[in-house]
Amino acid sequence: MTHYTFADLVGDEKEFFAEYFNKKPLLRKGALKAPQDILSLRRLDELVQLDIIRPPYLRANLKGAGVPDQGFTRTITVQGTDLTDAIVPEKVYELFRAGATIVWSSLNHLDTSLRDFTRVISDRFGAKTDCVAFLTPAGKQGFSPHHDPVDLFIVQTEGTKRWRLWNPAEVRRGEAASYTAEQLGEPVIDVLLEPGDVLYLPYDTPHAAAAEELASVHLSIMIRPRMWKDLLKQTFEELVRDPEFNEFPFIGADRTAGTETLFTEKLRAVAGRLATLAPGPELDRLAELGRRMPGNSAGNTFRTTARLDALEPDTPMRRTAATVEFDTPDRGRVQLTVNGHRIAVPEPVAVSLAGLAVGEQMSAASVFPGVPAERATRTAQGLARIGLLEVAA
Ligand SMILES: [Fe+2]
Repeated sequence: MTHYTFADLVGDEKEFFAEYFNKKPLLRKGALKAPQDILSLRRLDELVQLDIIRPPYLRANLKGAGVPDQGFTRTITVQGTDLTDAIVPEKVYELFRAGATIVWSSLNHLDTSLRDFTRVISDRFGAKTDCVAFLTPAGKQGFSPHHDPVDLFIVQTEGTKRWRLWNPAEVRRGEAASYTAEQLGEPVIDVLLEPGDVLYLPYDTPHAAAAEELASVHLSIMIRPRMWKDLLKQTFEELVRDPEFNEFPFIGADRTAGTETLFTEKLRAVAGRLATLAPGPELDRLAELGRRMPGNSAGNTFRTTARLDALEPDTPMRRTAATVEFDTPDRGRVQLTVNGHRIAVPEPVAVSLAGLAVGEQMSAASVFPGVPAERATRTAQGLARIGLLEVAA
């Protein structure tokens, strides 16, 4: 699949974050050049046939109501185990012909190219993204005007769909709500989305959408806003992990005055820690937590582990971000603590590691100066297995 960047979706990134993000909807006609690469009717036909995709990953909506799962599932047996809700493709097609909208939820859980596609948003927003595909038959009203409590990127990939959008209200509560036409007045955007068009809707943006003369496939990439209350909670949770907050006080009716004094002390201790917290690194940590929520992450551990088995003396190794503590040298050896692992290394190895900043590289053989390359390479291998080095590629 074509690799799309965040700028492909929003245009000028600076302008997006200054003018639109969290403020008002943005329409980008023709933003994506090969939209069927992202999701096509052909791909949806394939997904319907995949027995592994079951409710809640696939749902059907007919005349504004969800179709019960039993209406399009059956039991199949896999390796002696019954799966009671496998999709019956013919039933799904029948529902579609009867006017149902077919919805694939959290497709980024199942499809790695969609995961890659939505990750560019997670990376920028520092938040979890969820990717939902909607297949709407021609001429069907999807949903009446409403807003959702999530930021949305709408990506039209097949057919057309008419969207009407209104600016979010002054006071935004972050809860779902629906509207009547009179409440909303004239839309600020009224557009027939075509393949490749992208819409951005901040949370609580009222919208109504309907397929016109062509069946429509669009992706909704949903981002749950991480409000200050969510971020503060995560900062607080991290802060109270300290063993200082581990005792179990008796707080029942017969508690002593001492418990209340202790509580005051703990509150002051928390307040003191909050007041001296460095905001930059903490925001970076919170953003990283958001990027790593389920459905976003990627990894290459199998590949890198396999490469490690075949390490050569000239393979470039990079220092990872793992924190390492060095003990003082003792009889030519130094104890290191990395990710909870204790390991003793010869002093020259500790010296090369100490001189290697996070992200910096050196060849496997130069990790242990003054010994044969083969031995030095084995040392580099050991350090990579405990997560201190990684193959740079
Ligand atoms: Fe919606």
